[in-house]
Amino acid sequence: MGEGISDYTRFCVDLRRQMWMVGVEEELRRLIWQIAITGKYISAKIHESNRKLAGFRNLYGEEQLALDRSSDEILKNQLQYSGFVREYASEEQDAVVLLGKGREKYFVTADPLDGSSLVDTNLAIGTIIGIHKESVFSRGRDTMVAALYITYGPLITMVYAAAGLGAHEFVLNREGEYVLSQENIRIKDRGSIYSPGGLRKDLTEPHLKYLEYLENEGYKLRYSGGFVPDINQILIKQGGVFTYPALQKSPKGKLRLLFELQPMAFIIEHAGGIATDGREDILSLKVEDLEQRAPVYIGSRFEVEKAREFLTAGT
Ligand code: AHG
Ligand code: MN
Ligand code: MN
Repeated sequence: MGEGISDYTRFCVDLRRQMWMVGVEEELRRLIWQIAITGKYISAKIHESNRKLAGFRNLYGEEQLALDRSSDEILKNQLQYSGFVREYASEEQDAVVLLGKGREKYFVTADPLDGSSLVDTNLAIGTIIGIHKESVFSRGRDTMVAALYITYGPLITMVYAAAGLGAHEFVLNREGEYVLSQENIRIKDRGSIYSPGGLRKDLTEPHLKYLEYLENEGYKLRYSGGFVPDINQILIKQGGVFTYPALQKSPKGKLRLLFELQPMAFIIEHAGGIATDGREDILSLKVEDLEQRAPVYIGSRFEVEKAREFLTAGT
């Protein structure tokens, strides 16, 4: 037996060691680590959740659950003292928050708790983080250096991708360590599941035809209503497509470009998949403001390119 190291730990690769091994630079390693640890505090909050509405509204006018706000507070306070974060933009904040002294290296975006309306049903929910090297009001492809999400489900898992260094999954173990479970995740060019967001009655004709195509091809419908577990399923099952499309009354769909779509697009691209708004790559879209939404087709190359065919037919 090692010097007090249990066999279980000895053969595990924990998050800090894995990031060092794949070559993530030191300050980014420490920031990703800090955020992953915050996931433990948010998870504790979920387990003690009082499930009462906070009585607040965010800039989208949505009722905020106490959990959304407390998760945001926990995250912001942790990042405030990290020494690496200059600005913090969050789905729960009305504007970008200056956290540092103006010289720190990173700009962080957060959906502190995605799918919080599912807490009562005990379905999995998550935290979505984007890490940028400059102001977020640009194209994700130019500003992003890393992204991660934490899934609060039967297990707490964390997936991160750092620029050019792959996408990797960790599981929080009994000792409270994040242990590597999947390294260099790759999704196949074609999968077998699809997650169709939005109501059928609100869908546009080309998108309806696309869904019919997938159904005729025998794709299995997998949709929990939680963006994080729905994307995580496509990543871990190594294929498939998630879509929350343009709707007749909301041509930009529902999901937020900065807080939800950019981080997932960054991670999925690092696993060999693609993410578009039906035409343009998500990471090529310029962020004009915090509220900006975009339609999304994200996952295996074949399914996303097929969507582009249906959406651009006859144009
Ligand atoms: P949030 O809880 O951060 O507002 O996000 C909820 C989003 C996302 O999790 C999910 O993909 C989508 O809402 C589901 O929308 P529908 O309920 O319209 O399917
Ligand atoms: Mn969300
Ligand atoms: Mn949210």
